[in-house]
Amino acid sequence: MDKLKEFIKKTVDITDQTLQEVLPSDTTYPDSIHKLMRYSMFAGGKRIRPCLLIAAYEACGGSVDDKQVQLTSAAVEMLHTFSLIHDDLPCMDDDDYRRGKLTAHKAFNEALAVLGGDALCIGAFEILSRTARVDIIREIATALGTQGMIGGQVVDIESEGKTVTREIVEYIHNNKTAALICSSVRIGAMLANASEPDLQKFTSFGNKIGLAFQVVDDILDEESTTEQLGKDAGSDRERGKATFPAVVGIEESKKYARKLIDDAWNDIAFLNDKGKILHDLAEYIITRIS
Ligand code: IPE
Ligand code: IPE
Ligand code: MG
Ligand code: MG
Ligand code: MG
Repeated sequence: MDKLKEFIKKTVDITDQTLQEVLPSDTTYPDSIHKLMRYSMFAGGKRIRPCLLIAAYEACGGSVDDKQVQLTSAAVEMLHTFSLIHDDLPCMDDDDYRRGKLTAHKAFNEALAVLGGDALCIGAFEILSRTARVDIIREIATALGTQGMIGGQVVDIESEGKTVTREIVEYIHNNKTAALICSSVRIGAMLANASEPDLQKFTSFGNKIGLAFQVVDDILDEESTTEQLGKDAGSDRERGKATFPAVVGIEESKKYARKLIDDAWNDIAFLNDKGKILHDLAEYIITRIS
């Protein structure tokens, strides 16, 4: 197995194990919501945010065996999954498939999907509090708020069916997606107590790969199939979403994603060999097929 595959497998295993420990069992009363939370968490996501967090932590000298990094990356994955459950709701993107299975509101019901998303979000902050790192709690809360993920989701919804500028799409993508991805990288470095100048470089890297991640997500929505993606392909075009392909075309979108990754690599060149996994994860972001 190559090094990246090995790294991803280990991260997925550790994240899943931690989630198993922290999530209420699906027989805990009221069991309906705990079943939904576990259904969505273990539906088979790529776990890219925990991978980036742990890769940044290890690049700064930390080890994945540290409990603090395990709890933090499980919490980040819960927050991401909360955003997906709500993103799929009928009042948002109204999608039927996620991670190869029916979306939470389809498999359960809408009220429970809203509450299950809420519970993952709130539960994540309880888990983060166990690490006693207020700086990291503040970091993630900022990345998810109206100046981050939620802000991006608002403009995404408000732009449906409209002709928008490249700047607006870039605002949407930087906020709805890049904010949490960048934060995952930053949190890994912060947990390892990276210096302020190094943290700036991680931030610059994280912003670029985060934006590239959403540009590729848009391209895949256009070019791939529901079976391949495990979620509804073609749904952006159907809803008139503000996407990169819609605004600049597929070819320019691909070129832009490539350039963002190439530029991101420069930001972490200072890590030398210690940056190898982060470098390869960045490449994976644009070569992935789902
Ligand atoms: C999907 O994220 C939502 C976006 C921000 C584009 P991922 O592609 O990381 O989804 P999972 O976690 O692998 O299901
Ligand atoms: C969603 O973007 C980003 C968040 C969930 C915050 P999309 O709506 O493009 O994500 P997918 O394609 O449904 O995964
Ligand atoms: Mg959406
Ligand atoms: Mg969506
Ligand atoms: Mg999408």
